[in-house]
Amino acid sequence: MSFEKAPEKRQRYRIKIISMGDSGVGKSCLIKRFCEKKFVSKYISTIGVDFGMKPIDVGGVDVRVNLFDFAGADCYLEIRNEFYRDSEGAILVFDVNSRPTFLNIQKWIEESEKYGAHDMIITLIGNKIDLKKRQVSEKEAQSWAIAKGFRYIETSSATGEGVDTAFLSLISAVADKHKQQ
Ligand code: GTP
Repeated sequence: MSFEKAPEKRQRYRIKIISMGDSGVGKSCLIKRFCEKKFVSKYISTIGVDFGMKPIDVGGVDVRVNLFDFAGADCYLEIRNEFYRDSEGAILVFDVNSRPTFLNIQKWIEESEKYGAHDMIITLIGNKIDLKKRQVSEKEAQSWAIAKGFRYIETSSATGEGVDTAFLSLISAVADKHKQQ
């Protein structure tokens, strides 16, 4: 006689991650690189909000990551302001080659709070490091992130550098928060 071991019930979480940052800094490309390992050099601006889902195993836990990719242009505020509530994590992206996009990151935090995002875990991302025309140093961005209690990671969606680290560390941090609740 043999006994079959009942399969262990795996834990499952559904988490909501959003992308914030000025138009053109590379939010959609970062998500595409992470989800599909692809890079598209043609600029196709997001209209309103895009949605995608990626299942990930985080230390034996099934995590379904709902990704909401926000359009950065001001004209889409009325659409994206509906999606801030219940967000648990965010990538806050600027382009290291464009100082104005770095100076605007505070504006994005204020917008998220105004429209109902609270206690989000935020990863600040300095993107497009492959272009080598820096206007923001790693040290300056890192200091800003530390002062806010955010993680700072530099990335290139073109080469893939830093992209998995940025997303996986954010997803793990949000999943850990679920475990503690
Ligand atoms: P909105 O949808 O308007 O908010 O823009 P976005 O932030 O989603 O930017 P998107 O991902 O569409 O990228 C804008 C442009 O930058 C595209 O032409 C991309 O190919 C380019 N791009 C994005 N990431 C990188 C990168 O890491 N390196 C380089 N060289 N180009 C990038």
